[in-house]
Amino acid sequence: MSSHLRLGVNVDHVATIRNARGGRHPDPVRAAKLAIEAGADGITAHLREDRRHIMDDDIARLKAEIGKPLNFEMAITDEMVAIAVKTKPHAVCLVPERRTERTTEGGLDAAESRDQLAPAVARLRDAGIRVSLFIVADPHQIEAAVAVGAPVIEIHTGAWCDALAAGGVAAQAEWKRIQEGARLARRLGLEVHAGHGLDYTSAEIIAALPDIVELNIGHFLVGAAVYDGLRHTVREMRAAMDRGRAMVTQ
Ligand code: PXP
Repeated sequence: MSSHLRLGVNVDHVATIRNARGGRHPDPVRAAKLAIEAGADGITAHLREDRRHIMDDDIARLKAEIGKPLNFEMAITDEMVAIAVKTKPHAVCLVPERRTERTTEGGLDAAESRDQLAPAVARLRDAGIRVSLFIVADPHQIEAAVAVGAPVIEIHTGAWCDALAAGGVAAQAEWKRIQEGARLARRLGLEVHAGHGLDYTSAEIIAALPDIVELNIGHFLVGAAVYDGLRHTVREMRAAMDRGRAMVTQ
């Protein structure tokens, strides 16, 4: 059996619902604690430049209160690097950010932004923070991650999840890209995570890839919690990932 596959629960969209009305309800920190009780190994939260969901105070409270690793998603800006260095989360995941996008639509162009990335990665690493780059599983992006000194990548699974949901052959090509990318990244010494758009079905499938050690999942879990409650959805996700992991033969 391969290594334990960690589940990071992203609580951004608990904050989206809260912010629809202002005030404190529902509280992403309470949701984070609940997710941990239900089996999450860590919590992920994205402090966007426009503060559309997670706010600065949420990040401070998550770090102080959850008692498990906090994975802080952020754009590569001086403001965010300063917040990360001050907060000292367990991990930072660097993501591209466009104001007009609904969610993180693509991966970082690590190959094109080496000059911007390398000093940010160095500053965060010097602060004792584990840094990952959110990239698509293309060899030149993976090699660029190594070149800028990032110890971890998170593979963007959005295109694969969309293709899987739509049916048809496109999903196979995306799957092959993820499989081969994960293998290459691990061979190059990187730790490999994956996330974006995952649900019970796609998480169970991807859990069978032994090169991947962490999945970060948010929107589906928070959405399904409307029907079943967050405790239940996190437990179901944990079970789906465990079923997938049990298929690993090496
Ligand atoms: N990983 C990263 C880097 C992300 O930007 C997101 C979305 O915020 C996720 C994982 C989680 O994606 P989803 O909410 O679609 O599960």
